[in-house]
Amino acid sequence: GSAGMGEEEPPSCWKLKKLSDCEENLGCLRFNKRDAVLVDGGVFYNNHRLVPVKGKEVWDGDHVKMPNAMRNQIAPNQGPKWNQISKHLGALARRKEASVKDVADAICHVNPKYRGRWTFDALFSLVKATPPSENDLNKLFPKIAALALKLPDEVQKAIPLLQRGRPASITLSQVQIACLLANAFFCTFPHRNASNPSAEYHSYPSINFSSLFGMPVNRKIQKLKAIMHYFRVVTDERMHEGADRAATNGLVTFEEIDASETSLLENCREPLSKLHVTSGGHIEDEGADLLQVDFAAKGVGGGVLDSGLVQEEILFLLYPELIVSRLFTQEMDDDECLVITGLRRFSIHEGYSDNFQWVGPYDAPLKRDEWKRLKSQIVAIDALHFRDPRQQYDMRAVERELNKAYCGFKRSDKPQEPDIATGKWGCGAFNGDPQLKALIQLMAAAKAGRGLAFFTFKDRKLAGELRDVYQLLVCGGVEVGELYELLEKFCAAVRKHKDEGLFDFIRKSRSKL
Ligand code: AR6
Repeated sequence: GSAGMGEEEPPSCWKLKKLSDCEENLGCLRFNKRDAVLVDGGVFYNNHRLVPVKGKEVWDGDHVKMPNAMRNQIAPNQGPKWNQISKHLGALARRKEASVKDVADAICHVNPKYRGRWTFDALFSLVKATPPSENDLNKLFPKIAALALKLPDEVQKAIPLLQRGRPASITLSQVQIACLLANAFFCTFPHRNASNPSAEYHSYPSINFSSLFGMPVNRKIQKLKAIMHYFRVVTDERMHEGADRAATNGLVTFEEIDASETSLLENCREPLSKLHVTSGGHIEDEGADLLQVDFAAKGVGGGVLDSGLVQEEILFLLYPELIVSRLFTQEMDDDECLVITGLRRFSIHEGYSDNFQWVGPYDAPLKRDEWKRLKSQIVAIDALHFRDPRQQYDMRAVERELNKAYCGFKRSDKPQEPDIATGKWGCGAFNGDPQLKALIQLMAAAKAGRGLAFFTFKDRKLAGELRDVYQLLVCGGVEVGELYELLEKFCAAVRKHKDEGLFDFIRKSRSKL
């Protein structure tokens, strides 16, 4: 049907609940067993300053192994690796300018095992491709080194790992995040072995930036432009001093949430919630004042530090503070998601995938909440990757996706929460059926009692069809449970090799009533 394909409503008319309109009463900021707060809650309460909370080194399987830990050694009896790191990064930090070769040398000194294996072509090409008048990179490298060396001062308490099956949260300051990411840039974190399933951290994403510096050069140059811009902003002296520090530094919370209620949509009597569909715009632009959905991989950030460059990776480049989640977030289980509150967006871009280009700084001031977190929120939910698209019409797969979406959308105990900005979740790299995924998300949002803004990413056909089918369902008073039954029948029909689309199937079933 083309009925819905006419004029697009401008987002300003949308009656969705915005993050900036949500009132909050967050209570005290305090470290506890479930919620790790890496700044001193008492100091924050008394004078609103963000200072690192004191703590001691922990070197075990439940905490991040830090580059500056005494137990972190290049080889037994060679002393702490941090001595080497301080020596080589210190030499860089004391200089006014450093070349890519200096940076590559420092990284290789800190990681002697990888000398000759790690390549730096993209970093070299980035510097070559930057016109001399705009080239501040050589001045920037020493500042990143200096920032990395502040780690022992900035992060004093051990950072717990967000482990599967154990919902927990971590709250860090933006300065702490910058300092951790500066260490990732210089690859100072203990190496993670993803290929060996018995290795520690094999179920965690990588964190060191080594894979960002090499091939393929074209993609990585654009990625590095976004990353270097981030460091340009966070190493600006003004951010570390006086009033400006107060204005630019805030907190960010990373929270792992699980959905214990399973199979809850089958008999659900909830009506469908509000839905706004548009083929124009992007989640991170028009949807920035809503809960933004990250179309994630189960290891958050997916290929951001490698060559991946689709929705999740682009989001991580626009909001580089997201990258630090890879340091402590274990691969998500089927009923888990990661919610991040308080991130700052640093960049604007154009294009997608091979055509992605960094365009420039993003500078829209946001309000902060009581905990000095910027009013922005992202939820990472990983869809299933259907190597054979027919797999998705198995009700077990449908259930899994319903639960995952519900986990991401469900309300917490906060009094007010924003509606959700999403789109073709799981329908690009992961081969999902956009019609099925749209209804799955609509059902999960209805159960969660939240509205949806659905961005079809230039897909006008889907936008029109989704509006039409939504209209049909809402006019028919269809509840979530009934829609679930329709999905069951549809999946059964697909198994009998009826190759009709879901929306057509629904239209026919409804007209028989
Ligand atoms: N706003 C709205 N829609 C978008 C946007 C955007 N900014 N960007 C892309 N789309 P995809 P997946 C649309 O493939 O299938 C990553 O490597 C666009 O139509 O990123 O869930 C992750 O780390 C696109 O085709 O998500 C995972 O490993 C569709 O959304 C994997 O990809 C799906 O985007 C996830 O793949």
